[in-house]
Amino acid sequence: MIKVGIYGATGYSGYELVRILLGHPEAGLAFITSETYRGKLFSEVFPFGLDQPLVAMDEAQPEAVEAVFTCLPHTTAMERIARIYRPGLKVIDLSADFRFSDAAEYSRWYNTEHRAPELLAESAYGLPELFREKIRRCNIVGNPGCYPTSALLALAPLASGGLLKDSEVIVDAKSGVSGAGRKADLTSHFVEVNEEITPYKLGRTHRHVGEMESVLSGLAGRSIRVAFTPQLAPFSRGILSTVYVRTDISAGEIRGVLAAAYENEPFVTVLESGEPARLARVQYNNRCVLGVHEIAGTSLVLITSAIDNLIKGAAGQAVQNFNILFGLDETAGLTAPSGRI
Ligand SMILES: NC(=O)c1ccc[n+]([C@@H]2O[C@H](COP(=O)([O-])OP(=O)(O)OC[C@H]3O[C@@H](n4cnc5c(N)ncnc54)[C@H](OP(=O)(O)O)[C@@H]3O)[C@@H](O)[C@H]2O)c1
Repeated sequence: MIKVGIYGATGYSGYELVRILLGHPEAGLAFITSETYRGKLFSEVFPFGLDQPLVAMDEAQPEAVEAVFTCLPHTTAMERIARIYRPGLKVIDLSADFRFSDAAEYSRWYNTEHRAPELLAESAYGLPELFREKIRRCNIVGNPGCYPTSALLALAPLASGGLLKDSEVIVDAKSGVSGAGRKADLTSHFVEVNEEITPYKLGRTHRHVGEMESVLSGLAGRSIRVAFTPQLAPFSRGILSTVYVRTDISAGEIRGVLAAAYENEPFVTVLESGEPARLARVQYNNRCVLGVHEIAGTSLVLITSAIDNLIKGAAGQAVQNFNILFGLDETAGLTAPSGRI
């Protein structure tokens, strides 16, 4: 068994990570942390039969584990990682702190200095379908953001294949409310969210734009800009992105490119032409589902992309990265059939 610890086990992504790792054939949970619930059992916080105590971060023993997952707010994550990091420890960080290889770029989007720039050389961007080999060799994985995961899986093969005619793409995305985390906030209050759809941080102001543009520009070998319309929608979990690209080839050919790129990927499904991606296919599982659609009379092609923000957009992808880091079957712990009616 590989001993692992989870920092921030009482958040939504931490909870999902606990749940997935309990079913993992090779991982054993050595510690789980919470400041708010320190001293309580996990089963006292969540109606879930794990009678393991939650400990404060300073009481955890990272020296006794081979891997840690950090499910903490950004900045808190890198400060903790800087304190506990040692050669031989593998870190999977679910926050944004290790998603940029360049500290200045991180500062630009997150409006704060990077607190552990010396560790960036140890890190890799953790989107396995694109960067598996780099992840295998790194020590710290910057697990991608949820919106970027859905958009990048739709766009990456087109960017790397030189198929984006414009240097601008449009990503319109709806997220369930768990994307905002478990902490109570007026903007995610039931009455504010229910029977409403709320666009926020429009254009190029959302922090995830930096992550998407950095990856797409790297793959395309030129600057790609993302016009991004994130929206909060009244469901608990899932992201549905509708992505518009201008291209010289047909929707059918674009579908062929995506199908070829993901042919051997266990967690990406490209639907038949014209069939839209839907949340029901991805909720509670680690899949990304892509649909490709013709927009007749235009040179635009529409791609729909669905993920569960807490699984492929967070905890499931983190376990996929853990599997890669330890040379395990990439699907270990992630194959239980699940979905929604
Ligand atoms: N939600 C998503 O869909 C999603 C997707 C991808 C990535 N992420 C990223 O993953 C990370 C966790 O997100 P989440 O949605 O799971 O958050 P969350 O539900 O708000 O949970 C945050 C966790 O961090 C702990 N925490 C908060 N502030 C802390 C502090 N100052 N010191 C120590 N612990 C602290 C909380 O523990 P206590 O018990 O002490 O309160 C809790 O366990 C974030 O960086 C987020 O951006 C989230």
